[in-house]
Amino acid sequence: MDSGLNPRVRAVYGRLWRYVLPHKVIGLIAVVAMAATAAVEGGMVWLVEPLMDETLIAHNLETVQWMPFAFVAVFIGRGISGFATEISLGWIGRSVISNLRRDVFRKFLTLPTRYIETHSSGPMLSRMTYNVEMVAESVTNVVTVLIRDFLTVCVSIAIMIYQSPRLFMFILVLLPVIALLIQVLGKAFRRYSGRIQDSIGEVTQVTDEVLSGNRVVKIFGGHEYEMDRLVEVDERNRRQNLKLIRSRASGVAVTQVIFGLGIAGVIFAAGNESINGDLSPGSFMSFFGAMMLMLQPLRRINNINAVLQRGIAAGDSLFKIIDEPDEIDSGTYVAEKVRGTVEFRHVSFSYKSENAPVLSDVSFKVEAGKSIAIVGHSGSGKTTLAGLLPRFYDADSGEILLDGVSVRDYELSNLRSNISFVSQDIVLFNDSIENNLAYGQLRYCSRSQILEAAEAAHVIDFVKELPNGFETVVGDRGVLLSGGQRQRVAIGRALLKNAPILILDEATSSLDTKSERRIQQALEQLMTDRTTLVIAHRLSTVENADQIIVLDDGRIVESGTHRELLKVDGHYASLYRMQFSEELAEKS
Ligand SMILES: Nc1ncnc2c1ncn2[C@@H]1O[C@H](COP(=O)(O)OP(=O)(O)OP(=O)(O)O)[C@@H](O)[C@H]1O
Ligand SMILES: [Mg+2]
Repeated sequence: MDSGLNPRVRAVYGRLWRYVLPHKVIGLIAVVAMAATAAVEGGMVWLVEPLMDETLIAHNLETVQWMPFAFVAVFIGRGISGFATEISLGWIGRSVISNLRRDVFRKFLTLPTRYIETHSSGPMLSRMTYNVEMVAESVTNVVTVLIRDFLTVCVSIAIMIYQSPRLFMFILVLLPVIALLIQVLGKAFRRYSGRIQDSIGEVTQVTDEVLSGNRVVKIFGGHEYEMDRLVEVDERNRRQNLKLIRSRASGVAVTQVIFGLGIAGVIFAAGNESINGDLSPGSFMSFFGAMMLMLQPLRRINNINAVLQRGIAAGDSLFKIIDEPDEIDSGTYVAEKVRGTVEFRHVSFSYKSENAPVLSDVSFKVEAGKSIAIVGHSGSGKTTLAGLLPRFYDADSGEILLDGVSVRDYELSNLRSNISFVSQDIVLFNDSIENNLAYGQLRYCSRSQILEAAEAAHVIDFVKELPNGFETVVGDRGVLLSGGQRQRVAIGRALLKNAPILILDEATSSLDTKSERRIQQALEQLMTDRTTLVIAHRLSTVENADQIIVLDDGRIVESGTHRELLKVDGHYASLYRMQFSEELAEKS
């Protein structure tokens, strides 16, 4: 087989086997069942000879008596072995699917943020669904073909040789032709299979976007655009599938024609005294039956390369993901509870090395328990800066220190366990409000702690009104809550974590002034004994910060307290005056 020569294909195949091998006992049952199937089917064909010669022609009474029982036994055997094969192979196939799926999912949990943000989710999602199914189907198919079909062919050949060696010679001529076909038809397959996987991913992507963005689609009249997008990717999928079907169907058709010619040859030879020797009708029928029995298995063996290629193409893209490096977690330093001194030293960072830096030479220090506000225009790098502390991304140069230790030297999970965080785009999971509050490691919190956090974040205010209270499910990404409610749940979650460092990225931006002020009080109380990074456009919320830094285009252009900065009369002062006059205008 040509695939055997390619080391990468062989590597993929070897790894797939590792998912099958643990199921040795079930595997053994499957092998026995498949062997039994082949034997029983051979037996059925073999019985044709005595059926014809002894029962129908010679009317041998003894044979007439056992013949019906033999056939019943054979069919019962066929039923049992077929059932056992199906069940055991199905069991193995589903286990392979589950294990692969879990391995891929585990990888999704630990992939670097950069990888996840630069790859579309559609193809990643389809790996979890389409690819794992493909792989398992391929594995069970290949196993079936290799064992059951191979044995069936062997049994058929044995019967043919037993019934008439001379006729069998005729059949032999066909085999090299078939082998040649396998080579030619197998090649096209892998190419199409890979493309089909890609296009399935695109279909998933477009569909997901239409569902989650349905309001935008509706108001901006995106129906046609989205439909076109779907038609385009679906068309690609359809064409690749058709090519695949065509190459498979032509393989089937060609082999059938060849078999037809073979059968014609055998019938011709059977009528020829010099070739058939002295063939009885029963022997001929048995021979013919064996040949027909061989037909399906041979066709599947012919196709095995295609099935194998498809599984390998699907497996290859799964293993590529599984082999992606995890987030770098080489630090070993573990702090039970950090004090919370945060220092940035000449930190520069860009998302893509070829782009202009998003942060340039950023340096500042926050003492433990103090607060720092980061302000600046949209796109100035505030969120980026805050994301470097929990190491969503690593700085390109410079150092970030937590209690004087570089964040890279911390064990990643330990570092993150010390940081609590309300992100700018609120992420809620499709679960109850309670589980969203007590998300992740927080599920070990007591009910009273949850209530306390819900109280402080003013989650209680709206939960009271809900018929299911804390059990209310929030929908995909929390769509069933209002923006401000989502934000309050996120704040409650961050409060509940009770970590020494708190990052608030526009944490109260969706709240009205009154709610914001109330939550602000709760937050300020909380900020007294922990280090806080506050990012806010509304400057009234950062006035009380111990230190304010103003970012402009990734650089710190000013820093100091609210008063100091007003006195300097620079960026901050002008931002402040602008907002202040807006607020005055709103009030009047
Ligand atoms: N995940 C990302 N991948 C690539 N580039 C990004 C990513 N996130 C942000 N950027 C780019 O980095 C720059 C800074 O973005 P950042 O989100 O840090 O700004 P920000 O100050 O938080 O803005 P805003 O006030 O609007 O939230 C922007 O130019 C943005 O295009
Ligand atoms: Mg931001």
